[in-house]
Amino acid sequence: MLQGKRILLVIGGGIAAYKALDLIRRLRERGAAVTPVLTASGSQFVTPLAVSALAGSKVYRDLFDLTDEAEMGHIQLSRSADLIVVAPATADLMARMAAGRADDLASTLLLATDTPVLVAPAMNVRMWDHPATRRNIATLRGDGIAFVGPNDGSMACGEYGPGRMSEPLEIVAAVEAHFRAGPLAGKHILVTSGPTHEPIDPVRYIANRSSGAQGTAIARALIALGARITFVTGPAEVPPPEGADVVRVQTARDMLAAVQAALPADAAIFAAAVADWHVANAGASKLKKTKGGMALEFAENPDILAMVSHLPDRPALVVGFAAETDDVITNATAKRLRKGCDWIVANDVSPATGIMGGTENAVTIIRQDGAETWPRMAKDQVARRLAVAVAEALGNPSAPATVS
Ligand code: CTP
Repeated sequence: MLQGKRILLVIGGGIAAYKALDLIRRLRERGAAVTPVLTASGSQFVTPLAVSALAGSKVYRDLFDLTDEAEMGHIQLSRSADLIVVAPATADLMARMAAGRADDLASTLLLATDTPVLVAPAMNVRMWDHPATRRNIATLRGDGIAFVGPNDGSMACGEYGPGRMSEPLEIVAAVEAHFRAGPLAGKHILVTSGPTHEPIDPVRYIANRSSGAQGTAIARALIALGARITFVTGPAEVPPPEGADVVRVQTARDMLAAVQAALPADAAIFAAAVADWHVANAGASKLKKTKGGMALEFAENPDILAMVSHLPDRPALVVGFAAETDDVITNATAKRLRKGCDWIVANDVSPATGIMGGTENAVTIIRQDGAETWPRMAKDQVARRLAVAVAEALGNPSAPATVS
């Protein structure tokens, strides 16, 4: 799959650097040539000798190493790769990338290149959540940099949460997705998926029955056609697709922020079942039982689909979903106009259909120029058919001419 691909692997200074050794092995097993670059702090965690032995290549470490400059200048080094992978990408390395710094070999290479860059962040959960890191990530995404991970989990520092670097095989899947040729190669598509959780207090929330199955299947089908996917997901039952840049959120307001950070995109598909309201009087601490019941006040959530549809520099194709229980086509047609999206994928989610939370779906695609009803089929199949339609709409000539 990666035969003949040249990967420049920048290894930053984090405990996850040990996983970079396995990553080198996995990439080479698949036929890729790996040129390693080790930052000064990276070499505190893994030795240059181990990196070099596994990569079967010299390790590049110093910007001012004159031999390197004579053999292969740093500009040439960065441009001779098909893809630059930064793993682990520390908070500091990402901050320097976002700021356009060039104060060591790694940051200079990353600034001097026009080669695509894939970043696998790894850091403590507080660092990951810090507004400065959030800003840097938004900047890097805006610069077209792709992300894989991080995962949730327990960390070397003893804390739990997002910040663990993706496993080597997940990074390999993202690398393979990058190189996969297909009608959507080079396209960035944003997919929202799953339910949202709207807190009542720190331990209770309001949710819905969305499993995230359809959104996940759509993302997987788009990846199979070569797209780069940013997958913004609420707390779904099904695991997110491999090879996507996954952004996990809880509330509709979080989802809006993640969507805004992920733009620009060539297309955006809003498969998430977003709560229409959040609890305006949510408790900062656990609400206690009181006699005589209690009342929750609701405030409207932002309509993410409508907001994106009305942006002046909106994606070329915006697709919404309309999960209805009555007058499906009439309601969905009105919804398409109200929200301003290009297509609405309408379905009947009445309990008798078994669609919500089930494995099958029966949809009608409503566009400006008419509607097309597809027979009931597996959600995976709906996803594949929709992905082909998206490729066709984005005007790729190698996409099949028809979706039926
Ligand atoms: N959507 C969104 N943001 C919201 C609500 C919905 O992005 N706050 C998106 C969904 O992802 C979906 C589409 O809008 O693609 C339609 O969602 P739906 O809940 O059916 O729309 P509503 O406007 O909430 O309509 P209804 O009154 O039927 O609930």
